[in-house]
Formats: sequence, C-alpha cells, structure tokens
Amino acid sequence: MDSEKVIVCRCEDVLLSDVLRAIERGYRDLESIKRLLRVGMGSCQGRHCLPIIARVLAKTTGLRIDELNYPSSRPPLMPIQLKYFVSDGNEG
Ligand code: FES
Repeated sequence: MDSEKVIVCRCEDVLLSDVLRAIERGYRDLESIKRLLRVGMGSCQGRHCLPIIARVLAKTTGLRIDELNYPSSRPPLMPIQLKYFVSDGNEG
C-alpha cells in the first residue's frame, strides 16, 4: 500500500503518509495530530477519519485504541440573534 496515495481524511485532504510522518516526529495522541494536520476538523467532524487514524496510531505505536483519547468535537458555530428564537405572538 502506497501511503502517499491513501487518503485518511477526505474532508481535509490528509494522506496516510502525513499521519505516519507526524507519528515519526513524535506526535503520539489524536489531539496533537488533529491540531497539526487538521484531521477531524472538516465537515464530518472526524466521524470518518478519527477512527482510522486511531487504528494507525495504535498499530504504529503499540498503544491500545482504548488508551487513545478522542479529541473533543467543536462544531462550527456562528452567533444567532435571540430574536430568531422568540415570538411576539404575531404571525409573520
Ligand atoms: S474525514 Fe476527516 S474531518 Fe471528515
């Protein structure tokens, strides 16, 4: 398998080779790999890529998958004014 051709995070276009290089450089947890490569920050918020990267990290480092802490999800937010949630009783 050519790690230069295997995409592990489709949302952020991250290759398996990028993840393997990060692990070689000493990144040993999902949070730091996320911050370095932006994996898990795409539209799926890591639903597809983080389990794959966790398996790669576990296999490469010898850590157990249940030892790896998944990064907290921070969905993209934008402020919404309260007027959109309240009604004055009038339709329209
Ligand atoms: S596949 Fe990585 S954030 Fe969606």
